[in-house]
Amino acid sequence: MVAEVLVTGGAGFVGSHTVLVLLQNGFKVVVLDNLVNAVSEGPKPEALVRVEKLAKQSVVFYEADLCDSKALDRIFTSHSFQCVIHFAALKAVGESCQLPLSYYRNNVAGTLGLLEAMKKHKVNRLVFSSSATVYGTPQYLPLDEAHPTGQGCTNPYGRSKFFIEEMLADLCRAEPDWQVISLRYFNPVGAHPSGQIGEDPLGIPNNLMPFVSQVAIGKRKELQVYGDDYETPDGTGVRDYIHIMDLADGHVAALERVLGKDPLKGFVAINLGTGRGNSVLEVVAAFEKASGKTIKYKVVERRAGDVATSYADPKLAKELLSWSAKKDILDMCKDAWNWQMHNPNGFRSSENQK
Ligand code: UFG
Repeated sequence: MVAEVLVTGGAGFVGSHTVLVLLQNGFKVVVLDNLVNAVSEGPKPEALVRVEKLAKQSVVFYEADLCDSKALDRIFTSHSFQCVIHFAALKAVGESCQLPLSYYRNNVAGTLGLLEAMKKHKVNRLVFSSSATVYGTPQYLPLDEAHPTGQGCTNPYGRSKFFIEEMLADLCRAEPDWQVISLRYFNPVGAHPSGQIGEDPLGIPNNLMPFVSQVAIGKRKELQVYGDDYETPDGTGVRDYIHIMDLADGHVAALERVLGKDPLKGFVAINLGTGRGNSVLEVVAAFEKASGKTIKYKVVERRAGDVATSYADPKLAKELLSWSAKKDILDMCKDAWNWQMHNPNGFRSSENQK
């Protein structure tokens, strides 16, 4: 029997790449998205239109918000989901400090609404899109899943992911028939190798890779490197960048595990990272190599809330999901550049559109 999966936030960056890989692996996919962070010029968001073309299959799409319990009820009644993959969330760290209530409403209350609908309709398998941000400031490296969470989360976005994980763990303790895998991502970057789908940040990118790629294409004058006096080999921040296609494969591996004959019990958190770190200047050098462009940069003050180094211990994913990342930083930069070159306005048909 073909498993039917609900993907919340399936029009976003990680969501759309995962939907593509799910379709290619034979799953039936239903996407729910409220389009706060997606371009939609027709009945379906552009990212999903392109996913459908790449997969040569269609996706059922609902524009709905997780806080709308009536809409959720209608969707769950019209389908028989075996599992939910839950991406839908706000994710801008800086914005979350200005608008904490929006983050708790969307991320925490939205997840609560989803869990209530799942419980009502007897769907009790979930793959959750979490973040390495739950670890806060690393107490040791590499970061394994036993590292304390919640302490030292520096912003409401990070805390919202931590609170959701706590909520999921409580639910699994109270109701042992639930199976939840929480995937803690490190730094997802890159794009599908076709250049048809990729990351499409609204406005000025907060994250390193989209900013670098906009400098390469001439949209931004220069990169600001946030500090070169960290205790790292070249003084700039070190992160565990992971290719978006590896990340998408990690979700399919998690889904197959929760739907398989030997499912994991209760709440299980698993890192998705490569286990390797790259500095800001290493990313700049790799992007120059991938694009053939010079990336102009200037070193400025450290950014508040940043840590020197963060990278994963990826052993548990290998052990429990038989998954490990395959692509390196050069692959990530090549695919990010390919996407940027072919889509200078992201998913918009012209520069001025929002
Ligand atoms: N950086 C710059 N200039 C920029 C942007 C970033 O020098 O314009 C540096 C940062 O200081 C950091 C590195 O590039 O050293 C990576 O920064 P990102 O903003 O790309 O990523 P972060 O590690 O800060 O944040 C990411 C996700 C968050 C998540 C966090 C922890 O974007 O959602 O990882 O898991 F919370």
